[in-house]
Amino acid sequence: MRAELIQKEQKSIFQTYKRFPIVVEKAEGCYIFDKDGSKYLDFLAGIAVNSMGYAHPKIIAAIEEQVHKYMHLSNYFYQDVQIELAEKLCEKSGLSRVFFSNSGTEAIEGAIKLARRWGSAYKKNEIIAFSGGFHGRTLGALSIMDKPVYKDKMGPFIENSKIIEYNNPDELKKHISDGTAAIFFEYIQGEGGISSVSEEFIQSVKELKKKYNFLVVADEIQTGIGRTGKFFAFQHFDFTPDIMTLSKALGGGLPLGAILAGEHLANVWERTMHGTTLGGNAVACAAGLATINALEDGVLENVNKIGDYLKSKLIDLQKKHSDKVLEVRGKGLMQGLFLSFDAAKLVNSLLEKHKILTNAASGKVLRLVPPLIISEKEVDILVEALEKCLAE
Ligand SMILES: Cc1ncc(COP(=O)(O)O)c(C=O)c1O
Repeated sequence: MRAELIQKEQKSIFQTYKRFPIVVEKAEGCYIFDKDGSKYLDFLAGIAVNSMGYAHPKIIAAIEEQVHKYMHLSNYFYQDVQIELAEKLCEKSGLSRVFFSNSGTEAIEGAIKLARRWGSAYKKNEIIAFSGGFHGRTLGALSIMDKPVYKDKMGPFIENSKIIEYNNPDELKKHISDGTAAIFFEYIQGEGGISSVSEEFIQSVKELKKKYNFLVVADEIQTGIGRTGKFFAFQHFDFTPDIMTLSKALGGGLPLGAILAGEHLANVWERTMHGTTLGGNAVACAAGLATINALEDGVLENVNKIGDYLKSKLIDLQKKHSDKVLEVRGKGLMQGLFLSFDAAKLVNSLLEKHKILTNAASGKVLRLVPPLIISEKEVDILVEALEKCLAE
């Protein structure tokens, strides 16, 4: 059954994904169950999507309720769930306008367009982004990323985009100019190996912004909606971006993305200038609202409590295996181990020997992005397994 299904996949679907050798039957809480009855502890959460775990009763109830009212109408209609979610996001972020998309990369495309259109009034169209960043797979997003593996032979990319070194204030000073419309960055690079932006970098962004008047775009597609212990990662700093992009956890497991912007950008787009058929789908918005309600109902506290617990356990592990674990990175429940060897090896051992799901980011980093409802018990299971794998 399993082998047959895998064979069919190989014949029917573009072979662009490296998949785990697991054919899934169902998932519940922090666990995934395969068709052979095996149970896997999930420290990947659908790549930082399933923040409330699987089959959360309140998310299911919200989806069911919405499905019975209507699923899709198009953006020709006023839809209460969409408006309620937009208001909630504005309240939580301090930003004041939302555009809903279907995915992260679409939110990035929209943010590039919004920044370019804003910049056109000041003769600015350059977009600057940073090494190690990941923003998606569409051409605009790829234009602001540096890894050849995602871009090779798929250009030409959009003009006047530049990638400079992450977290280097001197480089930033050198490259920002009157022609810069926007800079795009992640507060913690997910695919880039759980690298956090530094206080000095944010400080120099603030100073340069005063001098050159460009937009700051925070890509919070992975860090947003509670993942780092604050509602949004930018809230760890004393600085609100002009634009923020969201997706992943936003839709509670359904496809949803968003661009948020400050009031000063509210009129940059006029009617029909940007749009999408399915973006802001009512069912996805209902699931997103239920996710945010759950986050406010104690889960954000759990991120901080379990995040600290996980960090302390990982630091103990690093002390014991300092030759193999070079650094413990990240915040909240977005953490990683920077290893002295290829992280894929550890991912495979955790999976094969301990039935624990993780993934590798940027070669040598083991990424840990579990559901935000995870408990100390599950962290202990992971740490014990890591201990065994590292001792081998
Ligand atoms: C920070 C960041 N930006 C953008 C994206 C692209 O999102 P999507 O895969 O939904 O297009 C991702 C996906 O991993 C991401 O982590």
